[in-house]
Amino acid sequence: MKSFARGFYDVICIGKIVLNQLSFSKTVIVVALMGLGFLTDVSQAQVQTFTCPGEGFGPGAEPAIHMESLKTVPNPIFPPDETTGLPTLRADLSEYIADPKAAIRLGKALFWDMQMGSDNKTACATCHFHAGADVRTINQLNPGPNETFDVLPKPNAELPPSSFPINKNYDDIIGSQGVRKSNFLGIDEFGAELTTTPTGFRQVTRRNAPTVINAVFNHRNFWDGRAQPDFNGVNPFGSRDTSAHVWVAHTGGTPVKVVINIQNASLASQAVGPLLSHAEMSAAGRTFPDVGKKALFLKPLRLQQVSPADSVLGAVADTPTGLKTTYASMIQDAFRPEWWNTWEKITVDGKSYSMMEANFSLFWGLSIMLYEATLVSNDSPMDQYLATRTFDPLTGALTGNDPTLLDQTVRRLAEEGISITRADIMEGLALFELPVAPPPSFPIQSGSGVGCIGCHLGAETTSASVGNLSGMGNETEGRAFKGARFDLRMERMFMNMSWAPPGPLSSVPLGADAITFDPNTYAVNVTSKSKVTVPPIDLPVATYDTGWYDIGVRPTIDDTGLGGGLDGPDSGDTKPLSWTKFFQSLPDPTFIKIPGNSLGCCGTGTTVFPDQIVNKSGFPLLSGPLHKTENANVTSAFKTSGLRNVELNGPYFHNGGKSTLTQVLDFYNAGGDFPNATTKAPAIVFLNLFGAQKSSLVAFMLSLTDERVRWQRAPFDHPQLSVPNGDNPDGTDNLMDIPAVGAGGSATPLKCFLEITPF
Ligand code: HEC
Ligand code: HEC
Repeated sequence: MKSFARGFYDVICIGKIVLNQLSFSKTVIVVALMGLGFLTDVSQAQVQTFTCPGEGFGPGAEPAIHMESLKTVPNPIFPPDETTGLPTLRADLSEYIADPKAAIRLGKALFWDMQMGSDNKTACATCHFHAGADVRTINQLNPGPNETFDVLPKPNAELPPSSFPINKNYDDIIGSQGVRKSNFLGIDEFGAELTTTPTGFRQVTRRNAPTVINAVFNHRNFWDGRAQPDFNGVNPFGSRDTSAHVWVAHTGGTPVKVVINIQNASLASQAVGPLLSHAEMSAAGRTFPDVGKKALFLKPLRLQQVSPADSVLGAVADTPTGLKTTYASMIQDAFRPEWWNTWEKITVDGKSYSMMEANFSLFWGLSIMLYEATLVSNDSPMDQYLATRTFDPLTGALTGNDPTLLDQTVRRLAEEGISITRADIMEGLALFELPVAPPPSFPIQSGSGVGCIGCHLGAETTSASVGNLSGMGNETEGRAFKGARFDLRMERMFMNMSWAPPGPLSSVPLGADAITFDPNTYAVNVTSKSKVTVPPIDLPVATYDTGWYDIGVRPTIDDTGLGGGLDGPDSGDTKPLSWTKFFQSLPDPTFIKIPGNSLGCCGTGTTVFPDQIVNKSGFPLLSGPLHKTENANVTSAFKTSGLRNVELNGPYFHNGGKSTLTQVLDFYNAGGDFPNATTKAPAIVFLNLFGAQKSSLVAFMLSLTDERVRWQRAPFDHPQLSVPNGDNPDGTDNLMDIPAVGAGGSATPLKCFLEITPF
């Protein structure tokens, strides 16, 4: 949210900066703290006074960040080959993968195979069948923290459209139903899974299911970032779990334990989570080698039809159901032999398994990641249009070669009886991209916007992307920070802006012309050099995980989100999920350099950071080492959602509380549903949008739907699926049939959640 937040202070004026160094007794201690040669300049360690004469600090013009076509982003798993430009398997993955096509085939079969659930009815796809997400309406309610059903009187009821937006006083969550409760007893000699008798209704997750489409661009997956970017072959926790290991047997020798750590593989870390979850897919007590044992007996997709025209599985599709192959042979085709090729048995938890069973979590994670990496939707009308739009960095001019491409959205909505124009979409794009007018003022003035892109950044429409956090960064300054070895996964910003006029965004009173800054604590105090009328105030500063924000969807206490820990919401202090808290838990975190915001002050700064106060190293004021005790803002922060196909991904937000995009816009317009005073992102404020501005933002979002997703054309085609959608009165599953679709797509397009119009 860097540019967005800082922009509130940028000023256009001519001025001069005066650096006033006060001597300060803590200097020596402070230099020791700074450590590692960073900012060792003694003067940096002293409290400094910066003045900004003339109009003083203030909000001002900010360079717009432009949205780009997703076509411009390299696939993190299949990057373009340097010479041919064609997608190719990332080099480090060839240590495991023998044949990427075979691995994608295996991953797609496993993802859609209902037999993978302990009940033989729950696949990954069961909660991700509709544009990669879930639109079921019966038994989808989780009673939330108060453990009481508030929205509907009882479990297993059907959600009517009138339940939305969910009443703010209710903490219920629209989740996804998984399996009924049972305990795992074993796999019998025929491969059948034995469990105790399943009881109760199907359990419902505590968060709404996000889409798997474009999830390959997420640096970490899950709303709270639980699925680590590095894959350890076994569970979601990456190198944070030091006991995780897999088995390797070189040239058919004895298998030995090996610790692996595959970078930028969050989807693999994610995929090994739900399979053993007692709520989602598993009887309690089942292990990965157990699932491996079961899978190796099975005819893949035996209970489901597969279209002979399926883009991936068609060649091995059998009639009437399943595949003409086995999971064992698919694993042999996909993975290098050292990960499965031995007759020797391996003992896990006192039970004997084949190597293929013992390493099943590795095959599961990697093959599903490779399949999901093909689920990229980068051909929406907006992506097509943006691919023809050029940006001139010198003049700031945008030249759109072919806005008529957007008429595709206008025409297809007209067929559904929804009337929007190309101009609506263009206006929505402008509101989305352009920053708030200087001084921060609402309603929005012409030529400015609401800066959604500050968080829904770049071509990925989320700052929580691989490109932004582990690549070079999606903002120009990101490159400068990266070059100086700053860690782009975190950021330090001013929090809790003053809501008082002429706000709501500026926390520096108009006319204030001086601040003090303590680099030991990053404390910034507004004082005044020339104008005694400005009372001294301290500006709250916090470091947070870039891409994760509390936007006020629920009260802070409802769900700790990123503030939780690897072992669940309550382990946030011992095993923090957030990078900020994790590094702060180390004895000395100052080796981590945090990019920071600054205050606008005309005529100051550098060419990379113009018109703002920079520190001695030439970076924005708040940039510098991470301190152990500084304020971290991570509680109840959630991953910024990517917005492609968002039309089809309702209900929205981590709690599924909104059913339409208009309800989402109403939420943003009101500055969120809850004030969450100490944690809410400063950009979430009352916007005072006109009705027409709201609907143009909705029209813009409708242009982000890829027709291939809407019609389920390749790569979004799939096998048939029976999806449990609540219970019948006699306690049996109310099954919903999702027919098999081949590469050419379905005869009917996917509809929105509850089939209600987005407006
Ligand atoms: C019972 C329903 C259910 C099943 C089954 C299920 N998921 Fe999910 N999935 C969810 C929910 C709910 C979330 C969000 C959970 C959270 O963030 O805490 C989620 C999150 C995800 C995400 C993260 C997307 C993002 O933007 O962060 C991916 C990827 C994903 N699931 C893939 C899978 C795969 C692969 C499987 C099978 C191994 C699977 N899911 C099985 C419900 C389910
Ligand atoms: C401060 C950062 C920030 C800003 C600014 C912001 N968003 Fe978001 N957006 C988020 C986060 C974080 C989420 C997920 C929040 C949650 O569920 O708790 C989200 C979720 C959404 C969703 C729901 C996606 C889904 O699949 O559930 C939509 C739609 C959306 N934002 C649109 C917008 C629009 C339009 C704007 C501008 C008016 C905007 N956002 C401004 C951070 C931001």
